Amino acid sequence: MDSLLIYFPECEKPARRLADHAGLAFDEIKVHHFPDGESLVTLPESLPRCVIIYQSLNHPNDKLVELLLAARGAREKEVSNLILVAPYLAYMRQDKAFKPGEVVSQKIIGLFLSDLFDSLVTIDAHLHRVKDLSKILPGCKAVNITSAGLTSGYIVKNFPDRPFLLGPDEESWQWVSGIAKMTGLEYGVCSKIRYGDKQVEVTLPEVKFADRHVILVDDIVSTGHTLATAAVKLRKAGAAQVDCIITHALFSKGVLKFLKTSGIRRIITTDTVPHSTNRIFTASMVAEVLKEFI
Ligand code: R5P
Repeated sequence: MDSLLIYFPECEKPARRLADHAGLAFDEIKVHHFPDGESLVTLPESLPRCVIIYQSLNHPNDKLVELLLAARGAREKEVSNLILVAPYLAYMRQDKAFKPGEVVSQKIIGLFLSDLFDSLVTIDAHLHRVKDLSKILPGCKAVNITSAGLTSGYIVKNFPDRPFLLGPDEESWQWVSGIAKMTGLEYGVCSKIRYGDKQVEVTLPEVKFADRHVILVDDIVSTGHTLATAAVKLRKAGAAQVDCIITHALFSKGVLKFLKTSGIRRIITTDTVPHSTNRIFTASMVAEVLKEFI
């Protein structure tokens, strides 16, 4: 066995899909959570020289410690090529100190990961002011792939009525414009002011939405307030149907119901974060990139 993909339990399904597409042997990393909150991480007894760890970094705080234990544990077993597949890469949004004293977590988490891994593969990392992942992960071969092609394919196949694609804020421009280019669909972006975790103000672009089918496109859903606020405005503007397609399903509790009550009909996500709304599967795309590192 030349290389082995090992995954954390929560990511079993997407990790096995990746192993299947990449023709890799796979095994599970066992995790026991002690009552005091510490984690016991158990790796397969023997590891080859090349190991791929699969973990999506939603709810990242415990996961980052478990990743540290797994990566250092693997190095102790003399793994010389250690690759992280983190379809969702956490802490990328805090790319500057918005207020004095705020710690720029993007930079610190980037250094933490680049110290542990030789290479990293992620999908649609939230890169805004810092555009290049290699600046965040110095010394680590890092690749940020986009799910725009897969999402475009999904839209063309499942929504033949030529919907309008709408990004709910300025930061979504990169995703919505990419998908619009591939599908040839009309698109626009809203402007957004965030006052707090659950307080956002969204202004629609000057477009006639009456009787139109609109798909909201964004990289992340967390509290759902960005999407819900945009959807309520769209319904008020007369949109006939509002759906959403999101890359990373970071749903906090109760968000799915909340989005439905805001008038969003279909909620579709990629499988970068395992969730019941996953419809777009990324394994084939990640397998292609992974070949370069094994
Ligand atoms: C921010 O720029 C992101 O692209 C998302 O719009 C944001 O993280 C969504 O957060 P929430 O669902 O909490 O409004």
